[in-house]
Amino acid sequence: MGLSSKQRAILRFPYTDYTALICDGAVRSGKTSIMSLSFVLWAMGSFNDCAFAFCGKSVGSVERNIVVPLLGIRYLQQQFDMRYNRGDHVIIIRRGNKENRFYLFGGRDESSYTLIQGITLAGVLLDEVALMPRSFVEQAIARCSVTGRKLWFNCNPDSRYHWFYTEWIQHADERNALHLHFTMDDNPALSEDVKAQYRLMFAGVFYQRYIEGLWVAADGLIYDMFSDTENVYRKEDEPAWLKSRSVRYIGVDYGTINDMVYLDAYDDGETLWITREYRWASRKEHRQKTDTEYADDFMEFMGIDPQGYCPAIVDPSAASFKEELTRRGVYVRDADNDVLNGIRKVSTLMAQRRLKICSECKGLIEELSGYVWDSKAAQNGVEKPVKVADHGCDALKYLVSTTIPGWRLGEVN
Ligand SMILES: Nc1ncnc2c1ncn2[C@@H]1O[C@H](COP(=O)(O)OP(=O)(O)O)[C@@H](O)[C@H]1O
Ligand SMILES: [Mg+2]
Repeated sequence: MGLSSKQRAILRFPYTDYTALICDGAVRSGKTSIMSLSFVLWAMGSFNDCAFAFCGKSVGSVERNIVVPLLGIRYLQQQFDMRYNRGDHVIIIRRGNKENRFYLFGGRDESSYTLIQGITLAGVLLDEVALMPRSFVEQAIARCSVTGRKLWFNCNPDSRYHWFYTEWIQHADERNALHLHFTMDDNPALSEDVKAQYRLMFAGVFYQRYIEGLWVAADGLIYDMFSDTENVYRKEDEPAWLKSRSVRYIGVDYGTINDMVYLDAYDDGETLWITREYRWASRKEHRQKTDTEYADDFMEFMGIDPQGYCPAIVDPSAASFKEELTRRGVYVRDADNDVLNGIRKVSTLMAQRRLKICSECKGLIEELSGYVWDSKAAQNGVEKPVKVADHGCDALKYLVSTTIPGWRLGEVN
């Protein structure tokens, strides 16, 4: 397989006067693979008895994304003796009497920060740099002090307020960095079919970043892919087989002063159907309910026949309510409450039209169309939704991120 012209530029970079290389852009666009190959060739060609660093989000992700692919490259196997010492997280590469060490670090691993502080490096490759804590990245850069050192960065875009964008990409020239921007077309190994598949994996702001390769802020409507024809169905159109051929869950967003929401969900293995909604809005009703009352309502909502019991996917912080449900024989699962990941998954499911909401879930539908990114927070580097009327949105997010595995959305890795 040949290389694209951007990839050839990665191989030429070591022989230019640039001291840093930044490759950003779409997922699967051929950044990491060719960058790690070029890095090893440069290190072995220019140095002896030196230390280098491969950094990623975690040591595990460096092993997966860099080490395993590198050790599998036939050309490298023919040219060098490469040994990976898994215990010490180091690759030793030799040719003749030349030998260099390549240490693995995880930017988010507490121990890596301490370890990298004590080392002197001739080069560092930061894979997915936008996902690493800034302090770690700065430490890694500061450790590169050997003459002839070079810095190698790659990442998928994040917010345009992200420090790596504002301080490195926008100042690439002043930093003497070569900036190469990638799209999936820069990876000659991807067929049109595969590219089309990747495009279906992301929606909304995640599509702009991971597919279009743009550094954009999360702004405006979160679920702009929501369609009140494609994602909403009328009760009378609910398939007759739905309940007998699906797995049922009830998603719970707990609230005392805020709304309490239950969503009755059926997963037929392909589509997630939200069939009913329960909501108690204390403010509107001028009355708060106790956990006992809420649990009574929950039992009634689920149906009293134990044959029909299903797992409740509950806001993990709702300790007393979870206990109340457990006492009544309901199986409670703590919801995965990673907000961005949840939003990303709901967006994808929605865009793939594999999320169908009954038009009777009025509260949820109304909230979905008013669910917006907090643009103030975004400017300060924090991405989150505005905290108003989002209780149905939260319950939905809990359902999707806890029960729908990534592979169902087409995710790889
Ligand atoms: N020129 C190429 N020839 C063959 N396979 C390639 C080429 N460039 C990239 N690939 C393969 O495409 C996949 C995605 O590439 P990768 O470098 O991981 O992309 P990115 O880091 O941009 O997500 C990997 O499996 C990689 O081995
Ligand atoms: Mg990569």
